[in-house]
Amino acid sequence: MGWSMAGSDADAAVNAVRPPGDHRAAMRDDPMAFLLDCARRYGNAVRLDLDRPSWLLNDVDDIRHVLAKNALNYHKTDFQVAFTGVFGHSLINSEGQAHRVPRKTLAPHFQHRALDAMPPMIARHVEAMLAAWSHGDELNLAESVMRMTVGVSGEMFLGLGADEAERVDAFYEAVRRAYQWTVARMRGPWPKWLPTQPRRRERRYTRLLDDMTRQLIDERRAAGADARDMLSVLIRSQPAAADSADERWLRDHALGLFLAGYEPIGNAIAWALYELAEHPDIDERLAAACRHTLGDRTPTMADVPALEDARRVLNETMRIDPSPWAMARRVVTDDTLPSGVRLPAEARVIISPYTLHRRADLFPDPQRFDPQRFTPDAEKARDPYAYIPFGGGPRICIGEHVARLMGVVALAIIAPRWRVCAVGPRPRVETTNGFTSQPADSVMMVRIERRDA
Ligand code: HEM
Repeated sequence: MGWSMAGSDADAAVNAVRPPGDHRAAMRDDPMAFLLDCARRYGNAVRLDLDRPSWLLNDVDDIRHVLAKNALNYHKTDFQVAFTGVFGHSLINSEGQAHRVPRKTLAPHFQHRALDAMPPMIARHVEAMLAAWSHGDELNLAESVMRMTVGVSGEMFLGLGADEAERVDAFYEAVRRAYQWTVARMRGPWPKWLPTQPRRRERRYTRLLDDMTRQLIDERRAAGADARDMLSVLIRSQPAAADSADERWLRDHALGLFLAGYEPIGNAIAWALYELAEHPDIDERLAAACRHTLGDRTPTMADVPALEDARRVLNETMRIDPSPWAMARRVVTDDTLPSGVRLPAEARVIISPYTLHRRADLFPDPQRFDPQRFTPDAEKARDPYAYIPFGGGPRICIGEHVARLMGVVALAIIAPRWRVCAVGPRPRVETTNGFTSQPADSVMMVRIERRDA
């Protein structure tokens, strides 16, 4: 088979196999396919030579240990930290106090009871998207849906309503560009001091985001901010005399939430609609169930528990196409995992929902799209760490309820009225931004048809 036990290094781990070949090159070429192949061939702990000695973990107890039980020993990696240039210290890339304090401040605003006003707001954005759809059109579904989730995120986190669509677009464009150039800078071979094009552009978009956010904060403060958007909430949780550090804190959290708030859920909704296009029986069933629950009404919070089919379709989509496809951690001090694998300090750990969710012993016939894997009984019978689209432990996605609401409400409005039909082959998946996977070049071409036409 051509593999060897990792046992010759001082930092050797027990039970971890090191596959042959150039792991860095394989990760650059097609990281999702490479990790899946590693997990399938070599088991639940695979030793990889990346920038640092790294372990791909696919064992449920090991994953629970890293994400939850011993989470304090596993920090985010340099990759996430590299985004501090643009996004500062947001929840995603902070550690210790800098993470715990804002997480505690923000958490209540993401819980169910704080989200009652969301379904009508989401519905407005979905209706605006559908108003631009015409029977028989071919369109880029990924782009159409992402614009919709950007609108929801802009309203929820930046307080930019429907009448400020141009400003939301400007934020979207600046965040996208800043992100793109940060990744280009990190992937380039250049030394830190060299003013390369990616570095210059990263700075330019960072400054643009600084200016745009500062203006927004000034406006919210001037308005006396009793609004419910998250930026106003953040402002209210600040000390009265704000100094520049507070300003930075506000900027970083507002931008971090805005970005996290549209990207993975935009991908999830687009993929869910695509899966429905490929599975007409599931599509018809979902449409009928939503029609039965809602009739012609727009969904409210009270309807959400009854939209069970939409919940299952969304869950199965995030099993098979999890947009944050991998999570990385740095080992702080030496540790031994429940499986017996020993990890040295400074090693890297990779946990991939994409590979985990394809374990045939956890999800039989894993390539098959089957929302019935998420009946309440099936969920109860499964270890919660076998399905981790939102991560787990103290750093579990703070936006999980928000994302679920966006997904369920959007599907419940779209599915009974529109049929999505695939055009051409299924889009290839790429991971160009490092954190999430998306259809190649963000293109997912489909034809849309009104069901009542
Ligand atoms: C389908 C949609 C979403 C998915 C699949 C998703 C997934 C994830 C995952 C896997 C993590 C953990 C990353 C890690 O442990 O390294 C995470 C963290 C996070 N997510 Fe989400 N997310 C989604 C939507 C959202 C939304 C709507 C928000 C709203 C703001 C959000 C905000 C965050 C934040 C702030 C963190 C960092 C939490 C922390 O470290 O304390 N996410 N998300």
